Amino acid sequence: MKPFLKWAGSKYKIMERILATLPTGRRLIEPFAGSGAVFLNTDFEEYLIADTNADLINLFKQIQLHGDDFIHYGSTLFTPENNSESGFYTLRSEFNECADLTRKSALFIYLNRHCFNGLCRYNSKGKFNVPFGRYSKPIFPSEAIANFHKKSARAIFEVADFKATMDKATEGCVVYCDPPYAPLTATANFTAYTQDKFGLHEQRELASYAAKLTALGIPVVISNHNTEFTRSIYSEAKLTSFDVQRFISSNSNNRNKAAELIAVYG
Ligand SMILES: C[S@@+](CC[C@H](N)C(=O)[O-])C[C@H]1O[C@@H](n2cnc3c(N)ncnc32)[C@H](O)[C@@H]1O
Repeated sequence: MKPFLKWAGSKYKIMERILATLPTGRRLIEPFAGSGAVFLNTDFEEYLIADTNADLINLFKQIQLHGDDFIHYGSTLFTPENNSESGFYTLRSEFNECADLTRKSALFIYLNRHCFNGLCRYNSKGKFNVPFGRYSKPIFPSEAIANFHKKSARAIFEVADFKATMDKATEGCVVYCDPPYAPLTATANFTAYTQDKFGLHEQRELASYAAKLTALGIPVVISNHNTEFTRSIYSEAKLTSFDVQRFISSNSNNRNKAAELIAVYG
């Protein structure tokens, strides 16, 4: 099932690789949900899906609660008038001031499909600041949202830092972690998903949380770039790496091949 959001670092295209490493269990915990690619393409009885991006998690909750009504409402924003520079900046300003969760969630999908490269980036005041994307005819992803709604009956969605989410793991859980990528080089760090910074300290903390859960008998799988740094912090895990064509940079000259690493604890 294809996620309905464009998301930097989405694992949709490498699902087969991830599925091959995921242990079985009753409940899947995803502390770094993003577009929910792993949630949508696995078959656990229950899910705990969390992320620090409150706009993202509120959207998932709105879809869970309102299904078809939300689909109908959200689709009304996809008009030719709104696919213009002035329409885009008016709706982006509205999003940044909006307190109504249903309206804000519909606007979030509108922004995801109309902004530059489908990026999700906020300024230091927490305001969404990605410019207009100039797509000829953005499509409202009705079917993919309907699929998400069906699947959401098995899920709990939470706005939380990864440590709080991982602390909720109990016997029978499997934890799949897809943190913001560790940098390939000192200057190429793409961490602007939310206002929170996810640096080398947090990468190390995640690795030690994984080791802690493994000691309790809870398996943990982590995805990341394959670098000397990641191989060293995941040294207690079984490592698999492979190449993937990745489009993380807004500069098309930087669309390079990055090697992907999967660390399996337990
Ligand atoms: C690489 S993306 C996940 C992509 C997802 N697996 C997919 O396939 O679409 C990383 C996510 O981590 C979230 N994030 C960043 N810092 C976090 C933190 N401290 N705790 C939890 N989530 C965090 C970001 O908001 C982002 O959605």
